[in-house]
Amino acid sequence: MKAVAITPKEKNSAKLVEMDKPKVSDIKDGRGVLVEVLRVGACGTDREINNAEYGVAPAGEDFLVLGHENFGRVVEVGENVWELEPGDFVVATVRRPCGTSIYDLIGQQDFTTDNEYYEHGISRLHGFWAEFYAESADFLIKVPPKIAEVAVLLEPISIIEKGLRQAKDIQKRLDIWKPKNAAVLGTGNVGLLTVLALRLRGFEVHGFGLQLPDGYLNAELCNAIGATYDSTRELSVTDSVKKYGEYDLIFEATGYSPIVFEAMQTLNENGILILSSVTGGDRKTDGVPSDLINQEFVLGNRVMVGTVNANREHFEMGVKDIALAEAMYPGWLSRMMTHKVEGLENFEKVFDILENGGDYGAIKTYFEVAKI
Ligand code: BGC
Repeated sequence: MKAVAITPKEKNSAKLVEMDKPKVSDIKDGRGVLVEVLRVGACGTDREINNAEYGVAPAGEDFLVLGHENFGRVVEVGENVWELEPGDFVVATVRRPCGTSIYDLIGQQDFTTDNEYYEHGISRLHGFWAEFYAESADFLIKVPPKIAEVAVLLEPISIIEKGLRQAKDIQKRLDIWKPKNAAVLGTGNVGLLTVLALRLRGFEVHGFGLQLPDGYLNAELCNAIGATYDSTRELSVTDSVKKYGEYDLIFEATGYSPIVFEAMQTLNENGILILSSVTGGDRKTDGVPSDLINQEFVLGNRVMVGTVNANREHFEMGVKDIALAEAMYPGWLSRMMTHKVEGLENFEKVFDILENGGDYGAIKTYFEVAKI
């Protein structure tokens, strides 16, 4: 079968490779599921891996099959798989409990304390930019056919579900927390999906991006579901509180770390700032008013939390939110899926769109590997 792989630490090394088609029997205990890949998404992490900034090959191998955003159809199941059958649509979770930490043992590998983590298409495990994969049913999420068209968005949504779940859990420290006003920093793929998830939860949502709003689809998508959009070229996050008030919840998804310090100063009392950008660079930020930020965090009982990856529960929350979104805002998710590239062999086109997304007006770029 065909797959797209990179050589870690080698820039622009992506190439098409031939691999053996996996088998149900590759997975132990009769729990194997063979999945035909239908669609796979591409994101900044894939770009960084191909730029040699990130990514680790499986032990004993010198290449890594890319891809963690996935959607496929079950072809065959092992004798101990009762929850899935051929023809079912599925999405695989990304991280695997290969480590030794207690969290790996209880299905919370997204909270692993091991420094080495195992993620399909990212770290130590081959990914889903391939025609087939075999996986244990334990890591597959069943997707209703009605949301098949947009289900390749489930993995990025799972990241947001985890972040919002963390916020909810942390805020249980307050006997009453009735958040109302939220800011989403960054309106790329993750940012827009966060705007959606927060609108579904009834928040007043303010999205911030770099680009000016006129003719910008991302801005239009914010407005279409009742959120505002501002370009930080016209209204800084700091100044935005004069217009919108302080934020009870802020979700950061820009990939630009200096904005975090600005966000910290726009939180309401008891508010929570959720960080989700994996900033692989070495940027330093001068002029941070650290005394002021520290004092406000202390005097206002404010919280900042980092969140990465997602476990089964967050994917399942994501399935429900996609279904709710399709009911409340029909067609909105499809509008985000701006760039479809047919066939894994066209991976260069995908990287071109990832590198120059702004010029293409791309929000979500994905491969169609096989027809739904
Ligand atoms: C993926 C996550 C992963 C993270 C860090 C993100 O792009 O969506 O599943 O945990 O990168 O590797």
